[in-house]
Amino acid sequence: MSQVERARRLLAGAGEVMVLTGAGISADSGVPTFRGEGGLWREHRPEELATPRAFARDPRLVWEWYAWRREVVSGCRPNEAHRALARWALRRDAVWIVTQNVDGLHAVAARVAGGSPTDRLIELHGSLFRVRCTGCGERRAHRRPIDATSEATLPRCEACGSLLRPDVVWFGEPLPESVISGAVEVARRADACLVVGTSAVVQPAAGLASTVAQRGGALIEVNPAVTSLTTLAHVSLRTRAAATVPALVASEDAR
Ligand code: OAD
Ligand code: ZN
Repeated sequence: MSQVERARRLLAGAGEVMVLTGAGISADSGVPTFRGEGGLWREHRPEELATPRAFARDPRLVWEWYAWRREVVSGCRPNEAHRALARWALRRDAVWIVTQNVDGLHAVAARVAGGSPTDRLIELHGSLFRVRCTGCGERRAHRRPIDATSEATLPRCEACGSLLRPDVVWFGEPLPESVISGAVEVARRADACLVVGTSAVVQPAAGLASTVAQRGGALIEVNPAVTSLTTLAHVSLRTRAAATVPALVASEDAR
């Protein structure tokens, strides 16, 4: 039996499944990953820009980076991996997609598949297309272009006038309590975990996959590179997401 078939059977036989995704699943859509090639923006590393300190020091620079990322993502579409997962989650009601990505492509794929974008999707690190007020804390959707030419042109809160920031989780910040508790609950229930395109170095996301494995659940990884989860994985597929994920979640009748 091929490794792909072995993984497919483990997933098909599981009661509840947690799919954990990272930047690698969107690499096949043209979204740059954080730590791989093309992960740098100008001379900056994401770890230097995605922090509350960087924003306090130079909000214009941080917003310029996010404006660039929003622009890149706006030109990208979900690939076959996002789409196959969305169709699978629609077909089987015990599949949860937990993503570290802030590109919103899982939600777009869900919509294309005819489902609700938020149904059984947990965006651990927030969204590029949402903003949060640094003054009153209000969160809302925001898709208009950002003008980051100077600090004076940065977006401000309509209610209190304070600077708005991207509604994403930065290094050194905790995940919102409701988001992490929802994800931990999924990890505690899941009989299998499919990990796609994450280097699994950022917590608590990576720990969700190990939780499933430690409870005896099947762990399947799709990643061209070895990661810190590889030694825990029952099946480790060294391939690109878009090339393999559709075959893993295909139903008997669709094959
Ligand atoms: P990384 O950039 O750390 O890792 C991307 C992973 O995707 C690597 O392991 C690659 O080998 C793999 N990869 C590359 N191309 C792939 C493909 N076509 N198919 C499948 N896998 C592929 O990104 P994340 O693990 O998502 O957090 O990073 C985790 C978090 O760190 C991000 O959510 C972000 C970042 O800093 C915050 O911003 C809070
Ligand atoms: Zn405000």
